[in-house]
Amino acid sequence: MSNATMRPIGRVGVLRAAAVVATGVLALAGCGANAASGDTAQTGDAPANSKGTIGVILPETATSARWEAFDKPFLEQALTSAGYTANVQNAQGDVQKFSTLADGMIASGVKALIIASPNAQVGTTVEQKAQQAGIPTIDYDRLNTGGSADYYVTFDNVQVGVLQGNALAAALKDKPGAQVIQIEGAPDENNANLFHSGQMKVLDPLYKSGQLTLVRDQFIPDWNNQLGGTTFEQILTSNGGRVDGVVAANDGMAGAVITVLQKNGLNGKVPVTGQDATLAGLQSILRGDQTMTVFKAVKLQAEAAAKLASLVASGDKAGADAYAGQRSTDPKSGRVIKSVLLDPETVDINSVNKVVDQGYVTAAQLCTADVAATCQRLGIS
Ligand code: BGC
Repeated sequence: MSNATMRPIGRVGVLRAAAVVATGVLALAGCGANAASGDTAQTGDAPANSKGTIGVILPETATSARWEAFDKPFLEQALTSAGYTANVQNAQGDVQKFSTLADGMIASGVKALIIASPNAQVGTTVEQKAQQAGIPTIDYDRLNTGGSADYYVTFDNVQVGVLQGNALAAALKDKPGAQVIQIEGAPDENNANLFHSGQMKVLDPLYKSGQLTLVRDQFIPDWNNQLGGTTFEQILTSNGGRVDGVVAANDGMAGAVITVLQKNGLNGKVPVTGQDATLAGLQSILRGDQTMTVFKAVKLQAEAAAKLASLVASGDKAGADAYAGQRSTDPKSGRVIKSVLLDPETVDINSVNKVVDQGYVTAAQLCTADVAATCQRLGIS
């Protein structure tokens, strides 16, 4: 890790993640963006024709629009098609709420629990309780380091960072010495560290050779998008207003960074990375403010988690083991976990249509007045 790396910043907890309204998040969650949303029961006993209830707890809404816009509807759809009742909840970044939701699901006898937790500590505790109750657990997207999940479904998270690093390096290739600011995810979230290590595989040699200059590499507690923006602004100010490129760990952080760049007349001139292919991120790309996003086919992730959950719920452990044919290693305990690992992809202005074609956002949602002409030029309709 370079000398410029600092983590976490001193003002941890000044802003609560729950208070953050990232640009576009509410709009996306509230306007029926869920192209694949299924109509499933949220609570209570499974209906007579259901094979039982599978519980899902997602971590937050404010750190990324993905959880409500993509994960929730795709999980509901996949679990329902597998014949189960889906009880998909969101802890809203509140560890206590996560714990309470899990206690309720365990007490009601869910057949399996799929969790993406706000932090590994609470995730691990939930896994222990589920294990005691004989309920199988699946880590979803985020690994609960030190935990005991039966299976893990995620993307190649190091590769996410490599794609971000590659995009930034390509955008700055003709600017020797270009000054880069890195705005990362939560320092205690395993994925955030994997994204960072992937970025550094690409960028560190360029920093060492002097091709690029690292101004600051900053992790942001709780993946708090708003804090990401204010932190970026402080770094920019203390660097005399100079920045040539920004690694933003996801689209939420990118949106916060772009707001600051706009204030300084720098948007569209400074390449910015992202992740999650959210509606807001894709629109930033169409406006020319964001260079790329990392598209993670959450539908496949949801389907893999639902498949594993239904196999273990029906007692087919051998089938589940075979399905989770890949392996992940827990960096904390060294435990090897049976996994399904999916490939992330870069999306830039020339491939935005891929996300539309695959049903994650509709052209009507994406092509608002200010980007309509760009949509037309790119054939997005
Ligand atoms: C997920 C990202 C997401 C971030 C913030 C990570 O664990 O992999 O897709 O942007 O959390 O919610």
